[in-house]
Amino acid sequence: MSRLARVLSSCALLCASASAAVPAFAADDPSKPVYVVASRRTHDAVAAGSGVRARALAAPGGEALAISEWPAGRLGELIRHVHEKERRCGGFFAFDSREQAEAFVRDDMSALAATAQAADYSVDNQATVKPWLAQVKEANIRATIRSLSESWTTRHAQSAHGRAASDWIRDAWQGLAANRSDVSIEQVACADCGQQPSVVLTWRGNELPDEVVVLGAHMDSIAAGNGGAGATAPGADDDASGIATLTEVLRVALASGYKPRRTVKFMAYAAEELGLLGSRAIAAGHRDRGENVVGVLQLDMTNYRAAGTPDLRLISDNSNAGLQQLVRGLYSTYLGGGALAEYKCGYGCSDHASWTAAGYPAAMVFEGGTAKGGYSPHIHSRNDTLANMGNSAANSVPFAKLGLAFLGEVGKTSAL
Ligand code: BES
Ligand code: ZN
Repeated sequence: MSRLARVLSSCALLCASASAAVPAFAADDPSKPVYVVASRRTHDAVAAGSGVRARALAAPGGEALAISEWPAGRLGELIRHVHEKERRCGGFFAFDSREQAEAFVRDDMSALAATAQAADYSVDNQATVKPWLAQVKEANIRATIRSLSESWTTRHAQSAHGRAASDWIRDAWQGLAANRSDVSIEQVACADCGQQPSVVLTWRGNELPDEVVVLGAHMDSIAAGNGGAGATAPGADDDASGIATLTEVLRVALASGYKPRRTVKFMAYAAEELGLLGSRAIAAGHRDRGENVVGVLQLDMTNYRAAGTPDLRLISDNSNAGLQQLVRGLYSTYLGGGALAEYKCGYGCSDHASWTAAGYPAAMVFEGGTAKGGYSPHIHSRNDTLANMGNSAANSVPFAKLGLAFLGEVGKTSAL
């Protein structure tokens, strides 16, 4: 990845100088081929008449990519185009070999996913979203958190309880979607997910079925320290709260008779605590099938909030800038909020990172936490219980409203 690093680091310099010169590394041998990964749009605009050879790739996040072969000495044309016509820096990645470029697209498209303007996110579906908001019931969210955190000692993916929790979620969602011909539910196993399959509910879009919106949370729990499959890990906040919030979003939307324009998928991921395993397999599957996922929202830890902390925070890393901006818009339009607080994990801390790594636009929202700006002090312990959140799910209610807003605005309502 040496070439990639050099292109990225030269970006600020190139943008600082209006004439965007050919970067230093291209000068040693101007005829040497360089393999560029860029958006198809950028490529087409600059390649017209230049004779570069490009290969179009699948379209993650709605934006087709192209790999093209450039003489190193002409890379400056591409840089100048991006800088002068598209008025931005970067936006492409260059490699020494085609294999490296292909591996980048295959294995790690997170850099593109984080910056891509994959979709045109608008906030104009108040007619659908507004009536939903008052339907959210704290008692429903509380009941789901209670069931998930108190029915078994753990939901560890490598335990029989982990399997039972997956079946419980499948059945709960099945019950909500009974008699719906546009909704199907499946359990998706993954190689390293132990006994626990993910649960995926697919609500077929009525107009744009090939465009997919994802709302997700993880079903498993873990105890740190002696954290094996036998250790007590109620995981009421982490992340029964996310599954419970998601389930209430699903209930409200189904009860309203909503018909989404786009296909909507609700996901309860397996084995997040073992390394984002369920979501990684699912996101990679979507990428390998060339599915067009236009937006992903992750709900992980929605119910712990100390006095004086914000009702919710936006995770600022491993996620897509355009989608973050949409979440800010939803927060102000539908929750009457001001500036949305942020939290930076500093690493791929939850399943949104799996989608980002697969090249799709994803975002995550997160609890207010403690007065010091942190999160639940009970995470990954036997004390992550509903009792330690005041036996209430009130803090998850704004997350359910935000989830409904995300569903209505990214999924939009079918006019048919
Ligand atoms: N819910 C946490 C993620 C989290 C923790 C987000 C604290 C924000 C603040 C998640 O379930 C988790 O524990 N993730 C792991 C990483 C994963 C790759 C195993 C973690 O943070 O250690
Ligand atoms: Zn979690």
